[in-house]
Amino acid sequence: MAVPEKILLEVDTLRQQIEHHNRLYHSQDAPEIPDADFDALLRRLEELETRYELLDEASPSQRVGGEAIAGFSQVRHEIPMLSLNKVFDEADLQSFETRLKKRLEAESSIQYSCEPKVDGIAVSLLYTDGVLVRAATRGDGVTGENITHNVRTIGSIPLQLKTVKKNTVVEIRGEIFLDKDGFKKLNETSEKEGGKIFVNPRNTAAGAIRQLDPKKAAKIPLKMYCYSVGLVEGIKLPKTLSEIFTLIEKWGLPVNPDRSVESGVDACLEYCLDLLAKRNDLSYEIDGAVLKVDDLDLQLQLGTNARSPRWAMAYKFPAEEKSTTVLDVEFQVGRTGTITPVARLEPVFVGGVTVSNTTLHNMDEIERLGLRIGDRVIVRRAGDVIPKVVKVIPHEDAKKIKRRSISIPQVCPACASAVVKDGDVLYRCSGGIICPAQRKESIKHFASRSAMDIEGLGNKLIELLVDKEIITSVADIYRLSPEQLASLERMGEKSAANIVAAIHKSKQTSLPRFLFALGIREVGEAMALQLATHFCILESIIAADLDSLVQVSDVGPIMAEHIRVFFSNSDNISLIKELQDSGVTWPIIEPSHDDSAKPLLGETYVLTGTLEQMSRSEAKAKLVALGAKVAGSVSKNTSCVVAGPGAGSKLAKAEELGIKILDEGEFIVHLDALTA
Ligand code: IVH
Repeated sequence: MAVPEKILLEVDTLRQQIEHHNRLYHSQDAPEIPDADFDALLRRLEELETRYELLDEASPSQRVGGEAIAGFSQVRHEIPMLSLNKVFDEADLQSFETRLKKRLEAESSIQYSCEPKVDGIAVSLLYTDGVLVRAATRGDGVTGENITHNVRTIGSIPLQLKTVKKNTVVEIRGEIFLDKDGFKKLNETSEKEGGKIFVNPRNTAAGAIRQLDPKKAAKIPLKMYCYSVGLVEGIKLPKTLSEIFTLIEKWGLPVNPDRSVESGVDACLEYCLDLLAKRNDLSYEIDGAVLKVDDLDLQLQLGTNARSPRWAMAYKFPAEEKSTTVLDVEFQVGRTGTITPVARLEPVFVGGVTVSNTTLHNMDEIERLGLRIGDRVIVRRAGDVIPKVVKVIPHEDAKKIKRRSISIPQVCPACASAVVKDGDVLYRCSGGIICPAQRKESIKHFASRSAMDIEGLGNKLIELLVDKEIITSVADIYRLSPEQLASLERMGEKSAANIVAAIHKSKQTSLPRFLFALGIREVGEAMALQLATHFCILESIIAADLDSLVQVSDVGPIMAEHIRVFFSNSDNISLIKELQDSGVTWPIIEPSHDDSAKPLLGETYVLTGTLEQMSRSEAKAKLVALGAKVAGSVSKNTSCVVAGPGAGSKLAKAEELGIKILDEGEFIVHLDALTA
C-alpha cells in the first residue's frame, strides 16, 4: 500500500513522542502529560499502524503485544559477562589501588567511575541499527537466557535508540531492578487482592524477568540502569567510561544519576561512604558501590582475570538480609492489650546492627510465613526500618530438625486473664487495668518524649516501679516522692530529685500532648493535634458525639468510635480529673474561624533525610495542623521539600524539578513565621 508521506511523518512523530513520554514517566518519574493524553497518542498510533499496515517491532505500540513463549532459548554472550571482585573495608580498597598503580607503573592519581551497585539482575541488550533485537540474562556469564519478550515491556528501555545509524551493532549491559516504591505498591495491591506477598525487590524483579508471559512481566514496574557497553560495531566509542555514559544517555538509555567520577581512591572512599549514608533515601536498593577505572585504554592494559576485570572493584555494604534460627516465640502484651508474637533469634548482624528479636506482628503473619520454632529464616533490615522475618528457608531434612508449632496462648502471659480474639487477626488480653503489662506500656507511653516528656522516667524505671507496686496508674507518677525513688537500687538522691523535678515540669503541657499521652486507640500525635485544634478544649472532646467527631479531618467512623468509647468510660474521666487535680494543665487554644490558621492549605510537603531538632512525626503533625499535606515522594505537585542530612534521591528530584527546598533550620524559621 502506498502510504501518504504525511501519514509516515505522523507515525514517526507519534513514535518519538510516545517514547519521549515513556522515558519521562518510567525513568525520570516526571510525566509531562496526563495518562489519558498518553493513551490517546498510543491509540492514534495503533490506529494508523493498523490502517496503513505499518506494524513494526521497534514501535512503542508493540511493547506488550507479544504472546507467551513456550520456554527460554539460550543466548551466547560473544564477550563474556564478568562479575566483580569485592572488598568490605577501606584497607582492601587502598590495596586495590596500590595493585593498579603497580601494574600500570603509574605515579599520578587514577580517575574512577564510581557507581551505586544496584541490587537487581544483570542483563545484556543488543541493538542492531539502533533497534532492540535481543535481551538476555547474564546466566553463567557465557550463556544466558533470551528475555527479549519481557524486556520489551519495560517502558524506560528504548526499542529504538536515538541518533544511532544503520550498519551498527551495540550491546548495552546493565542492571534491571524494581525500585522501592514499585515494590511497595506491588505488595499493597497484591495484599488487597489476596495475592502473594513478594519478599524483596530483587527476587521480584528476577521472577518478573523470567516470566514466560510478557503480560505478566508488564505488571511489574521494572527499571534499568545501564553501566557498560559490550560488543560494538560501526560506532566509534569515546575514550572513557564516563563519556560513554553521556553518549548512551543521549541515545535514550537510562543511566544512573547517582554516579560520579572521582580522582584517587580516597575520593572514591568518600563517595562510597556518602552513598552508604544516603542508602535509605535512594529510590532503589543497592548492596554497595562499584569503582571502575574510567580510562578505557587503561582498562585494556589492566585486562581481566578468569571471572572479573582487574580494573573494577565492588565495595560491599552490610547485607540487608541474613539467615538465622528462630530460637523461640514469645508473646508481648501492648498498651491496649494487643498480644504480639515476638521471635527470639540467634543473634545476627544484618543491615549494620545485631538483631536478636523481632516482631512477627500477628498470628496471620506466622501462618503466612509457615513459621515454626527451630526454623532457619531470612531476616531483613533495610535502613532504619524494624527488622523483619521475610521467609522461612525450606530445609531438605525438615522432618529431622526439631520444629515446634506456634499457637496463641489461651491466657495473658502477664496477668493470666483470658485472651480474646478482636476482629479478624488480633488477639487481646482481657485483663485491662489489672494487667501489669498493659499498665507498664501505658505508663511508658504517657511519660515518653512525644507525650508528657518526663525526662529520666525511662522504660526500665517504669517497669521497676510497677513491679514494686509503687505506681499502678499514670496518676501515681505525680505522687512519687524523691524518697521513694531514692530508695530504689542504683538510684542516687540527685537522680531521684531530678526525676521528681522533671515530673513536676511535665505538668505544664499542651492539649495535643495530653491527648496523645492518654493512649486512646488509634490516636497518634497528628490526630491528637487535629482534635485539639478542632475542639480547642478538652471538655468539648469529652462531650463530642460521633457526628461531631467525624467532622474533624482524618477522623473516620472507627476512629470516632474509639474516641467516644474512651471518653464514655468513667474510669478514664476520673483519671483525667486526678491528673488535672495534680496540676497537669495546658494553655487555652484560641478557636479560629477562618482559614488563616491553616496557611498551608492546599500545599504538599515532603520530609527527607534526618531531622535533628524534632521527630518526623512532630514535623508532620505541625504541617498537618497548618493545613499542609505530607507526602512520601516528590512530584511536580510538591510545594516544598524539607531536607535533613543524608537526604538523597528525593532531594535530587526536588532540585531537578525546581521545588523549594528548606533545611531543618529554615523549616523551623518558616513554621515560626506561620504560627507567630
Ligand atoms: S559492572 C565487568 N556496574 O554486580 C563488570 N555491575 O558481580 C561487570 N551490578 O553481575 C559489572 N550495579 O549484576 C557493574 N554499576 C554496576 C553494577 C553492577 C550492579 C551487579 C551486576 C554484576 C554484579 C557484579
